[in-house]
Amino acid sequence: MCGIVAYVGPKDAAPILLEGLQRLEYRGYDSAGVVVSNKGLKMRKVKGRVADLAAVVPARFKGGLGIGHTRWATHGAPSDVNAHPHLSGDERIAVVHNGIIENADELRAKLEADGAIFLSETDTEVLSHLIARTVKESDSLEEAVRTALKRVVGTYGIAVIDSERPGEVVVARNGSPIVLGIGEKEMFAASDVAALVRYTRQVVHLEDGEIAVLKADGFNTFASDARETAKETLTVDWEAGHYDTGGYEHYLLKEISEQPDTVARTLRGRLDDRFHIAHLGGLNMDARETRSFRRVKIIGCGSAYYSGQIGAQLIEELARIPADAEPASEFRYRSPVVEADTLYVAISQSGETYDTLAAVQELKRKGGRVLGIVNTVGSAIARECDGGVYLHAGPEVSVASTKAFTSTAVAFALLALHLGRVRDLSPADGRRICEGLRRLPDQIKEILALEPQLQELAKKYAEAPSMMFVGRVRGYPVAREGAQKLKEISYVHAEAYPASELKHGPLALIGPDMPTVAIVPDDELLDKNLTTLGEIRARGGRVLMVGHRAVDPKLADDCVVVPRNEIELDPILLSIPLQLFAYHAAVALGRDVDKPRNLAKSVTVE
Ligand code: F6R
Repeated sequence: MCGIVAYVGPKDAAPILLEGLQRLEYRGYDSAGVVVSNKGLKMRKVKGRVADLAAVVPARFKGGLGIGHTRWATHGAPSDVNAHPHLSGDERIAVVHNGIIENADELRAKLEADGAIFLSETDTEVLSHLIARTVKESDSLEEAVRTALKRVVGTYGIAVIDSERPGEVVVARNGSPIVLGIGEKEMFAASDVAALVRYTRQVVHLEDGEIAVLKADGFNTFASDARETAKETLTVDWEAGHYDTGGYEHYLLKEISEQPDTVARTLRGRLDDRFHIAHLGGLNMDARETRSFRRVKIIGCGSAYYSGQIGAQLIEELARIPADAEPASEFRYRSPVVEADTLYVAISQSGETYDTLAAVQELKRKGGRVLGIVNTVGSAIARECDGGVYLHAGPEVSVASTKAFTSTAVAFALLALHLGRVRDLSPADGRRICEGLRRLPDQIKEILALEPQLQELAKKYAEAPSMMFVGRVRGYPVAREGAQKLKEISYVHAEAYPASELKHGPLALIGPDMPTVAIVPDDELLDKNLTTLGEIRARGGRVLMVGHRAVDPKLADDCVVVPRNEIELDPILLSIPLQLFAYHAAVALGRDVDKPRNLAKSVTVE
């Protein structure tokens, strides 16, 4: 959630660090800082945005070695002093850190007893003081960092420089991502490839426990026992342009609008017209293995979890395998029963969400078979899983997930089709689903054309203090995601309920101040949903219906009509107007759409 950038090479580090930090700002921030090495360490750090930092970094900040950071406060409030980097007392060592040092208080007390003077309230500052001590007894900075980290309990991605070794930067990872970028006689490191793509596409991901030493002419990586490790270089296909707003007012609107293309990319090359099956080469399972699972368990956090609920529904309907989704953050703490005949599926846009990663690691430890549905190629969750499906949706910059949510649901449709066609899904039904999937990009375009209507509706309903979202069965995860989008970017309180549960309690909330967004697909539950609308209206509640045909004005104040696909695939399309509704509600209320308060893009802490 914080961002790290490091550079060593022939150019001046400061502009490269500032540019990289700017690219990481979307992940969450409250302060930023850089340090460069040039006859001693020169540092600037401020509370605020990267632009505020850039304004105070003087042109005389020369030097080809440096590290930078954007912070999202955990230990200590956002302030200039708590911002990273943190220096050792003798100003020899500088450290930037993502993650949480759990035994920071204990280490701090020992270091203070030993004479260290702390300037900040952060857990990170213990690292600079610790390394300043170990470096004196070590032959290399790498050895000093390794020795210091042995005393640390917690998670970290760190970058460290030593003013007495001006040609190298040492980075280490445990639970917080670090990726190396290989340039022409220059090396980079960052917590996210977004900071690197302007300079290089050749990247190397560090594993937990690894340390890397970067010099201008290359790098070496080591395991925690100092053994040198061999690394694979990946070429990333994300470009710097993917991180621009492309003329849109916000990344969120750009990402919503990209969905005809991103869905097409998730589908590309994966539909087989001969056998009406999906080809998912990354599953790493033959047909016999694929048939052997008796249950599917899906885990993810937040919107990823809601897309998993759509996925569970698709798998049950198309493959007739019992399937359910659970928040990864709950799953990992409840000592889950892990069974050999269950297929586990972990979902993550970033591939770095700590709770999801920890759940995958728990599953692997217990011998579970885990597939990943992940957007970020080479990310920690992708590497940890036994196989999986990449979304190919391109980087998602806005904090709220939209295109990755939709592509995940599409990837689940592919997985359900695949699992179904090695079981009992008929070729005719397989063809029906393949054809339905192919129609999605054009139908998404039709929904995007409803934007003016959704903008008006958003303005009309955004004044409500609270909103209810309801849906039945296929519509319920759509309602949950719709409520999630609205609350996180517009800060309007929103609750999601299964439509059938309203009368068991929440109906008491319904009245003129609590409008309802009702998901009403044209499926076998249409009549039941219409009854629910009647119940809401009878209590004076306003209704905004999202479905396949306009209903009697007695049942809904407003109707958003979206194109119909196959009933199993309709939840994918029904989610899209709710994204536009939330976006325009947030704009109408003057919110910081791409960086909602208190949130970060990638939650790499517990
Ligand atoms: C909501 C949102 C979050 C993420 C969640 C998981 O719009 O973006 O709820 O879905 O933090 O993130 P990933 O998918 O990166 O694991």
